[in-house]
Amino acid sequence: MKVTIDGQSIDVEPGTTILQAARMIGGDLVPPAMCYYSKLKGSGGKCRCCLVEVSKGSEADPRPMPKLMASCVTGCMDGMEVNSKSSARVTEARKSVTEFLLINHPLDCPICDQAGECDLQNLSFEHGNPKSRYIEEKRTFEPEDIGPNIQLHMNRCILCQRCVQVADQLTDNRVHGVLDRGDHANISTGISKAIDNEFSGNMIDVCPVGALTDKTFRFKSRVWFNKPYNAHRECTTPGCCGKTTVWMFGGEIQRVTGRKDEYHEVEEFICNSCRFDHKNVNDWVIEGPREFEKDSVINQNNHTQKLEKVQIDTEKNILMGRDVDRKKISMAEIPLNTNNQNS
Ligand code: SF4
Ligand code: FES
Repeated sequence: MKVTIDGQSIDVEPGTTILQAARMIGGDLVPPAMCYYSKLKGSGGKCRCCLVEVSKGSEADPRPMPKLMASCVTGCMDGMEVNSKSSARVTEARKSVTEFLLINHPLDCPICDQAGECDLQNLSFEHGNPKSRYIEEKRTFEPEDIGPNIQLHMNRCILCQRCVQVADQLTDNRVHGVLDRGDHANISTGISKAIDNEFSGNMIDVCPVGALTDKTFRFKSRVWFNKPYNAHRECTTPGCCGKTTVWMFGGEIQRVTGRKDEYHEVEEFICNSCRFDHKNVNDWVIEGPREFEKDSVINQNNHTQKLEKVQIDTEKNILMGRDVDRKKISMAEIPLNTNNQNS
């Protein structure tokens, strides 16, 4: 089947969604995704960040789809034409969705451990409104302890439900989920029971915001001060790949996470033992620095980035007259004559 997104065509298998097709093409046209996660079955369809405009339904039925469609749950049809980044309507909708997600999300990035690698922060950076139109009080929840390793900040949750799907698919006894409905909906263990399954730490990795953070790393460092390295160890936990990213500050491993791809999705899930209990450099075989492909705060100054010459426009004015000085300093044959007007 052939599908065209923002003028770029690709052949895809039946059953491929528009978002998957866009990721196959890659680049700017890939819609943002806050709830879809390719490794989690049944994810997507909740946040509406990935809306696109279908300007031609298919070769057989070329009528455009009247509403914007969630690309992560809309299947491709043969001959379908889709507008993503190229559509002003889509850009406007993404702005609105971002504003909607931020209605209740606290703007506590300066003290949030997720800052720098937060999908909502990145989304706001591209589509956010610098001024909030919301004057009502934000929704807040009582803090709830969900165990020794994971910190839940329900106020930051955007109810993407990825963490629920991790618990459903990787663990054999899910003890948390979405409780209540509407404005009161929240992620909870209900019985305040600790989530102590061997794979529960993956909920931290899949959470797009700072609602689930690593208690062993909390407030230790901003992520951009850490240097990420790919590392592996012989892990004996069944189902764990033992391949991780270790985040180092000098010679110290401050946290361990799964390896994330350019869409911030982990390549393979890891066990809690690798994540929380192995913070000694000798526990790991360090493979080398981790590459980041997607733009984000932690990507800045990454060694794999192309070094670009920075041109500061004001330099010429600030340094006015210095050219002459430089000549004098470096060219001994030019005599220093205080009567000379140029001196
Ligand atoms: S806690 Fe995080 S992963 Fe879970 S639903 Fe909320 S935002 Fe999504
Ligand atoms: S990523 Fe498609 S609705 Fe959330």
